Amino acid sequence: MKRRDFMRLSVVGMGLGAVSVTSQRAVAQGSAGQLLGAGGLFYTQESPGRWAGKVATHLPSVQIEKAGHGTVVNVTTAHEMNGFEHYIVKHVLLDHNYQFLDEHLFNPATDKTASSSFNIKNYAGTLHIVSVCNKHDAWLTSVNIEL
Ligand SMILES: [Fe+2]
Repeated sequence: MKRRDFMRLSVVGMGLGAVSVTSQRAVAQGSAGQLLGAGGLFYTQESPGRWAGKVATHLPSVQIEKAGHGTVVNVTTAHEMNGFEHYIVKHVLLDHNYQFLDEHLFNPATDKTASSSFNIKNYAGTLHIVSVCNKHDAWLTSVNIEL
């Protein structure tokens, strides 16, 4: 290998290394303090970022009930449902790797509360619940499910 080729490859390698480090940091924490992951960003109770005053009305509240071999996950967001002006768009369940499991879409024309219920079977481990507001982004609560 010629010295010029070696130098070119070294510069490319250094560039790829920098991209990799930047990407890993972005998954852990955004610049505004929000949690980033799975191709999107989520605000949490500990990291409300730019929406620090919005935790109480945007963080999904989760209640778990055991039902035989299944688990009922009841989700509520204490948020107004003011027609299409300001409302909770949906609740989403993600597995421990932030992979999609299920979702419930709300109709702001008819739904007066942002409450949903999911029945999941044979799942144990961390379950992430996301509540999406049409103005204040996506909020995540995580719980542990035991079989
Ligand atoms: Fe909101």
